[in-house]
Amino acid sequence: MPVIKQDLPEKYWDKLFAPSSALAMITTVDAQGRPNIASYGTCTRVHHRPVYIAFTTTRGKDTAANIEATGEFTVNLPKWEDGILEKVRVCGLPFAPGVSEFEKAGLTALPSKLVKPPRILECPRHFECEVEWTKEWAEGRVMVCGKVIAASVDSDCVDNDGFVVWDKVLSAHYCGGPYGGQFVAAYERKSVGIPYEGPEVEIANKAHQKTYHEFHE
Ligand SMILES: Cc1cc2nc3c(=O)[nH]c(=O)nc-3n(C[C@H](O)[C@H](O)[C@H](O)COP(=O)(O)O)c2cc1C
Repeated sequence: MPVIKQDLPEKYWDKLFAPSSALAMITTVDAQGRPNIASYGTCTRVHHRPVYIAFTTTRGKDTAANIEATGEFTVNLPKWEDGILEKVRVCGLPFAPGVSEFEKAGLTALPSKLVKPPRILECPRHFECEVEWTKEWAEGRVMVCGKVIAASVDSDCVDNDGFVVWDKVLSAHYCGGPYGGQFVAAYERKSVGIPYEGPEVEIANKAHQKTYHEFHE
């Protein structure tokens, strides 16, 4: 059955990037328009409204160079499934500039709605971003922060209120370089109370309700 990508209006974008950090495959294009994919374990949603997403790369890598050249990137969130996680590892290899990770990993490019970097069909969630700022620090590391200007999702992965369907999105995290090729699943869920009595609880609950209502206007 063909995948149906559902465009989501802005009020749902914050909920769509859940949990607030995730394993990501980030696409960019170079000055000639050639697409690039690289894998990132450091991708985090860093602001609610508007939604901003940040990640850390390295100066000299294709992603950093392309972002500097074009000011755009697309974040694609893969599922906790063997096939796509293997492709995530392929997209972490140091291919030369201009080599297509779409071909190397066997992934399908789907044009984005508002930016040049394509979406990756095999990922269920997509965030099209314009670069807000970059910061170079720590011996050549480059932190990139982008504003989400469009988001889309496989239609079976969100409910009618824009909450993700956890058993469908199957979010994953990367354990980090020292662990090699290890990932952790990030979609088991439970509600947790606050075993503390004091005015801070009410303040926090009110803030949470305000956020909830803002997103359900
Ligand atoms: C699962 C995974 C997560 C990664 N996370 C990051 C990361 O958060 N930051 C980073 O700089 N490199 C990370 N890497 C390494 C980059 O993907 C790798 O350097 C890649 O070659 C960059 O590609 P590019 O030259 O096309 O930008 C990760 C690799 C893998 C496989």
